[in-house]
Amino acid sequence: MRTGFFNEREQIMNENFICENINVNEEGHLTFAGLDTSDLAATFQTPVYLMDEERIRVNCRAYTEAFKEHFGGESRPLYASKANSFKYIYKIMKEEGMGIDVVSGGEILCAYKAGYDLSKAFFHSNNKTDADIAFAMDLGIGHFVVDGFEELYAIEEEAARRDMVQDILLRITPGIDPHTYVQVNTGTVDSKFGTAIETGQADEIIEAALGLPHIHLNGFHCHVGSQVFAEDVFERAAVVMVKYIAHINRKYGYLAPILNMGGGFGVRYVDTDPYLDVSKKIADLAEAIHATCEREGIPVPTIIMEPGRSIVADAGMTLYTVGSVKRIPYYKNYVSVDGGMSDNPRYALYGSKYTCYTANRMNEERDMNCNVVGRCCESGDIIQRDVQLPSDTQRGDIVAVCTTGAYNYSMASNYNKIPMPPIVMITDGQAKEVVRRQTFEDLISLDVD
Ligand SMILES: Cc1ncc(COP(=O)(O)O)c(C=O)c1O
Repeated sequence: MRTGFFNEREQIMNENFICENINVNEEGHLTFAGLDTSDLAATFQTPVYLMDEERIRVNCRAYTEAFKEHFGGESRPLYASKANSFKYIYKIMKEEGMGIDVVSGGEILCAYKAGYDLSKAFFHSNNKTDADIAFAMDLGIGHFVVDGFEELYAIEEEAARRDMVQDILLRITPGIDPHTYVQVNTGTVDSKFGTAIETGQADEIIEAALGLPHIHLNGFHCHVGSQVFAEDVFERAAVVMVKYIAHINRKYGYLAPILNMGGGFGVRYVDTDPYLDVSKKIADLAEAIHATCEREGIPVPTIIMEPGRSIVADAGMTLYTVGSVKRIPYYKNYVSVDGGMSDNPRYALYGSKYTCYTANRMNEERDMNCNVVGRCCESGDIIQRDVQLPSDTQRGDIVAVCTTGAYNYSMASNYNKIPMPPIVMITDGQAKEVVRRQTFEDLISLDVD
């Protein structure tokens, strides 16, 4: 079992690769989690999502250990299910002592069916329906993270009907710009998420929550954005939130027991992305929180974070088979693969960057500039633009797209009635399907004849 982010030997061997768990074997084939990707493609067919269980566990431990060291007590990390939700992942989270967050009835059910204890779950979403609220309560959700007034009253009503008191956090918008993709920026006042401090509405919703008999306000949540690299964004958000806790304490005599700082640490998709040391980032965050609590004269709350991407992204890789290589003289080369925006919509959504390889030609010069594109009937169906692959890349070759463990399977669709790929988990050198491939029959199974 690898225990840290930097294993010196692996770092030297892998210095040319984007992730620590990839390498090249004697046959010139790309390996992932120690296994030959060409063999994996032959065994499981393509497209296929690969996941490295050990890497997921190493990433979890970076958080759990840093939390123990810098916060202690009840402070803990939660895994953000939205990054990748399937039963097996909840089994890992349970074993690693991670809490979870969920954003829908579907994620709640998936975790529940995996045997995950939902009292440790936090339920997000800016628009929980009455049915969502009732379903979550039926299954014993620990906390709702309440986004606004209507939802607050809907939860109060449902809890009253059940004659119970429901734990909640309130999602507060701190007014911090994380400088990430605009689509995943959530910390600024102009956002569909949360209730803003700046407008005074956050004070109002807290006052309202404190007055409801079936609501137990257990603290505050904030989330500034995702794929965040900018220096000190989390520290600045923490300072705003701790000062806000102190303000609410002075105003209403209410001292928030929990402060949930959300998720968002960036991961490396391409060489130019910086490397973030999670342990160091948590140490910096802890310092900012401790110092601000001291200045404000309040005790340090229980701290929660909810990372998704930095738990699973580099534990994933997608393999595709090349169908065609179209060369348009003086224009562009297109390498078409047997998946696309249906299994990875992130380029289409955000222009996200990825590192791609021709997995069975790793010793060949990467001398062809091309766009790696999918098989969907859309010009925007692009996995990555301006990739360097060997010019011999041809039909039947395997293209590997790295760092696809987050927001790929969870964002996949059946566009063009394309079945979703399976998830193959690699554990101690053994590969097994933990999510099977969708069949054509699955695709039409909901249609009423
Ligand atoms: C409320 C909330 N928490 C946690 C996360 C996870 O963020 P990340 O995957 O960047 O760690 C997100 C993602 O956008 C989010 O919206």
